[in-house]
Amino acid sequence: MRLDKFISDNSILSRSQAREAIKKGLVKSDGVVIKKADFQVSNDKNKIEYDGNIISYRKNRYILLNKPAGYVCSTNDPDSPTVLELIPPELSKKVFPAGRLDKDSEGLVLLTDDGELSHKILTPEKHVPKLYIVKLAECFKIQYIDLFASGISLGNGEVCMPAKVFPVENNDLWAIVELKEGKYHQVKRMFASAGNQVEYLFRFCMGNLQIPEKLAIGDFMELMHKDVEKLLEPPDYNCILQNLYVYFSSYLINK
Ligand code: URA
Repeated sequence: MRLDKFISDNSILSRSQAREAIKKGLVKSDGVVIKKADFQVSNDKNKIEYDGNIISYRKNRYILLNKPAGYVCSTNDPDSPTVLELIPPELSKKVFPAGRLDKDSEGLVLLTDDGELSHKILTPEKHVPKLYIVKLAECFKIQYIDLFASGISLGNGEVCMPAKVFPVENNDLWAIVELKEGKYHQVKRMFASAGNQVEYLFRFCMGNLQIPEKLAIGDFMELMHKDVEKLLEPPDYNCILQNLYVYFSSYLINK
């Protein structure tokens, strides 16, 4: 593979930034400065360095997007902007959203080209837990806890798996929901069945992978494979809920 392609595939540099870096003599292959962008390298044989840092071969790309409202989780849509428009073109050509959030929902969406991982997290049998924080039209009622725990009916014959729900401390209009499945508009339909309405929804975590405090709505970050494995780990809710409350007080409370 060409050196400039190896760099753009495996780092945050675009192809043109990679070419620029090579021209400036900032790139080494096996300790030797290479100034030709078309120099041939092999994914696993050459040690490539950029500005003194090793660029390792990455088989797959993983992007943690903090989705803003107004974007659809799709690779193309005739009517609305897609989440791929929120990331640089050199990345958006490769990845697809692993799972969906509604157009008006915000929060964690994983974009990847790893079909195997995507299948693992989406397959209903895996029951990867997802945690949402929602703003309700009317105050939270304590009955919701048992209703959600017993498997709420969505009114069309569809019955949900048992789910957890509880109110946000000192704020009756906000609630936290944990689901282990992903039916269409599920959280909204669950609250509708309970006689309430979701006005705003934010997904904070999937498995043990959560939105970092620094990642504002609309921003994204690249993850390494080892970070993404957190998706398949059981959530550490002591830690996640603490972080969620910090996130809530800095980004969500004014929604
Ligand atoms: N449930 C919903 O109703 N909407 C989402 O975007 C995600 C879960």
